[in-house]
Amino acid sequence: MQNKLFDNQVAIVTGAGVGIGFEVARQLAQQGAKVILNDIDENLAELASQKIKEQGGICEAFGGDISTLEVIESIVEFAVEAFGKLNILVANAGITTFGDFLAYQPESMQKLLQVNLFGTFFLTQAAAKQMVLQGNGGSILLTSSVTAHAAHLNLAAYGMTKAAIDQLAKNLIVDLAPHNINVNTIVPGATLTERTLEDAEYIKTWSRITPSGRPATVEDIANAALFLVSPMSRQIMGQNLVIDGGWTSVGVSPY
Ligand SMILES: NC(=O)c1ccc[n+]([C@@H]2O[C@H](COP(=O)([O-])OP(=O)(O)OC[C@H]3O[C@@H](n4cnc5c(N)ncnc54)[C@H](O)[C@@H]3O)[C@@H](O)[C@H]2O)c1
Repeated sequence: MQNKLFDNQVAIVTGAGVGIGFEVARQLAQQGAKVILNDIDENLAELASQKIKEQGGICEAFGGDISTLEVIESIVEFAVEAFGKLNILVANAGITTFGDFLAYQPESMQKLLQVNLFGTFFLTQAAAKQMVLQGNGGSILLTSSVTAHAAHLNLAAYGMTKAAIDQLAKNLIVDLAPHNINVNTIVPGATLTERTLEDAEYIKTWSRITPSGRPATVEDIANAALFLVSPMSRQIMGQNLVIDGGWTSVGVSPY
C-alpha cells in the first residue's frame, strides 16, 4: 500500500462539524492521519466523523465546547487514550460576532474572547504540553481571518481577536521552536461554508471584489492547512498564510 503524507500522525481538529474544519479533518484523514473531530454540537461531531469513516478515514468524534478548560484537557487526554499520542493540532473553532462598534455590547465581547482567544490559547497550551512530553515535536495551526489584516465594517471585535491569534503564533515560536513544534496560522478570506452561504448574495458580492473572481472554497483553505501541518513546512514558523484570492493585496481603486 502506498504511504500517505500523514500516516502514523494523530490530529485534533476543532469546530469541525461543518465548514473549513470539517474539510481539514476530512483531508487529514484521507492522507492517513487519525483524527479527533471536535464540535460543540455533539450530534454534528458524530455525523461528521461518520462521513469521514465512510470515506475510509480513521476518525473519532469529541463533542463539547472547546473554549472550556474541562473540554480542552479532556480532548488531549482522549487523543492519547484513543491513538496513543498527539502530533497535530488544528485550532479552527472560532465565532464571528458582527456588530456596530458604537453599539457593541460587553456580553458579545466576553463570548468572543472566550472562544476565539481563551479557548485557542489554552487548547494550544494543552496540546503543546503533550507534544513536549512526547519529545518528538509537532505542528500547531491556528485559524485567523483576513479581518485581522484589513478593516471590515462591523467586525472590529472579531478582527481584533484574529489579529491576536496571528501574533500568538509568532510569540509561541520562542517557546515552542526549541521543542521542534512549529506554530502558524491560516488566514482565510471570504470562504464558502454552510454559514456564509446563508447570505444569498455571498458568492456574487465576493466574486465582484476578489481579484481571483471568486470566494475561496473549503478545499482551498484545507490545502493550505495541510501544507502547514505537514513535514513540507517544518522550517516555516510563526507565519500567517493568507488565502483570499488576492483580496487583501488590493487597495481601494480611485476609478
Ligand atoms: N468562513 C469564512 O469565510 C471564514 C473566513 C475567515 C476566517 N474564518 C474562520 O475559520 C474558522 C471556521 O469557520 P467556518 O466558517 O468554517 O465555521 P463555522 O462558523 O461554520 O463553524 C464551524 C463549527 O464550529 C462549531 N463551534 C463553534 N463554537 C465552538 C466551540 N466553542 N467549540 C467547538 N465547536 C464550536 C460550530 O458548531 C460549527 O459546527 C473560524 O475560526 C472562523 O473565524 C472563516
